[in-house]
Amino acid sequence: MPRHIAIIMDGNGRWARERGLARIAGHQQGAASVRTVTRACAEWGVEFLTVYAFSTENWKRPRSETDALMVLLEHFIEQELPELMRNQIRLRAIGRLEDLPLGCRNALQRAIDLTAGNTSTTLILALSYSGRSDILRAAQSLCLKARSGQLDPESLDEEVFRQELSTGEYPDPDLLVRTSGEMRLSNFLLWELSYTEIHVTQKLWPDFGKEDLLEAVREFNKRERRFGAV
Ligand code: FPP
Repeated sequence: MPRHIAIIMDGNGRWARERGLARIAGHQQGAASVRTVTRACAEWGVEFLTVYAFSTENWKRPRSETDALMVLLEHFIEQELPELMRNQIRLRAIGRLEDLPLGCRNALQRAIDLTAGNTSTTLILALSYSGRSDILRAAQSLCLKARSGQLDPESLDEEVFRQELSTGEYPDPDLLVRTSGEMRLSNFLLWELSYTEIHVTQKLWPDFGKEDLLEAVREFNKRERRFGAV
């Protein structure tokens, strides 16, 4: 099993359009896929699962859609809490969490606190996340430390930099899954995905289930990972 799986959940809008439904119906069904996939990871012993739930660029969508997504997120976190506790799943979040509406932030913090001691999979929600801005923030923080004398710039190396990222305490993803056939990173975990194996499936995210994740893991297991060596 990969230790850490990251997922770019794409295709909710297309799933809804194909059915003549509003886009939010696709996101609602997408939330059900998050539940299924999280449960599978806990069952299989995957240690970390990071899902790209909302990018900083997603704020450019119509207000009605971003508002509905935030409400969905808040409800999802509240409704999932018993299931997270039952399956020993620890909830965490990365991104510009201060951008989220207060209700959403409060629900998130409460779930993070209540699940902190859980020992199965860590589910990391990337919310108002941007890989570039995360790298930029790390650079800013290191510059401030250097200015105040806490950091010797000469001693800066990849490990010190990595720890400054919002993902600093997690291992890099081993496997990245992207649904709906798009071949892009879309500003997701730009530093962390350097040596990650990529699996792209045509399936739209709301149709993605346990079998699809298993197929991605099987394909991953056939890959030879050399990390630049021979
Ligand atoms: C991409 O599909 C999906 C998103 C921008 C949001 C992802 C959100 C969810 C899966 C549901 C809520 C999340 C959680 C964790 C409960 P798209 O809208 O870009 O689809 P399209 O490319 O077909 O239009």
